[in-house]
Amino acid sequence: MTFVVTIDGPSGAGKSSVAKALAKTLGIRWLDTGALYRAVAYTLDKRGIARTDGKGTADAMAALSVRIDSEGVFVDGEDVTKAIRTPHVDRIVSAWAALGAVRNGLLSVQRSQARYGSLVAEGRDMGSVVFPDAAVRFFLTASPEARAMRRYKELLERGESLDYEDVLSRMRDRDRADSSRDLAPLTEPEGAIRVDTSSMGQQEVVDELVRIVRSETAGCSS
Ligand code: DC
Repeated sequence: MTFVVTIDGPSGAGKSSVAKALAKTLGIRWLDTGALYRAVAYTLDKRGIARTDGKGTADAMAALSVRIDSEGVFVDGEDVTKAIRTPHVDRIVSAWAALGAVRNGLLSVQRSQARYGSLVAEGRDMGSVVFPDAAVRFFLTASPEARAMRRYKELLERGESLDYEDVLSRMRDRDRADSSRDLAPLTEPEGAIRVDTSSMGQQEVVDELVRIVRSETAGCSS
């Protein structure tokens, strides 16, 4: 039997790198659902659709073909993998992710991924909404300062010149937007395993998660 592992948590808790490394160690696929929300936000924004235009957004979502695989993220055949990792998309994505038409449109894209085998699904509502029956559900978190510092270093490595305080304040804004929206807000799923990564190295977190998943899924195939 195949299985799903979910990892939810706020931006900068280390979800992506941990989810990716966990999937690799277990020999199963990694699903970055933030990339799907970014791809939709990037595309609808570029097409000039107003977020307040409910019908325009719903029509666009119904016609949109979003695909994610090991090669990247594609919208209507266009490779948007790099274009979705900019400060502009960072700023607009939460607002698009709060829309019902966007969330509903992406639900089937996400669930269909579990048909191809076992999966580490990473996002904000994986354990609560998308895969509530997952074999193991994690909630990864860290202090806002630790998360902002990680994001700051990531951006510096990419050549973006930003102020740490700005990164921290944007992180807080995004946390607020993601946690206070009406639809599928970022919450700790009931019964999830909470891991605070503030003072843990990435490998330490991965090792801990691998240990837990192996013990919980003994007997399952990938
Ligand atoms: O993980 P990330 O920073 O790439 O996520 C981008 C945005 O998408 C973020 O504002 C939260 C939102 N998101 C969401 O609402 N639900 C998910 N399952 C994944 C991401």
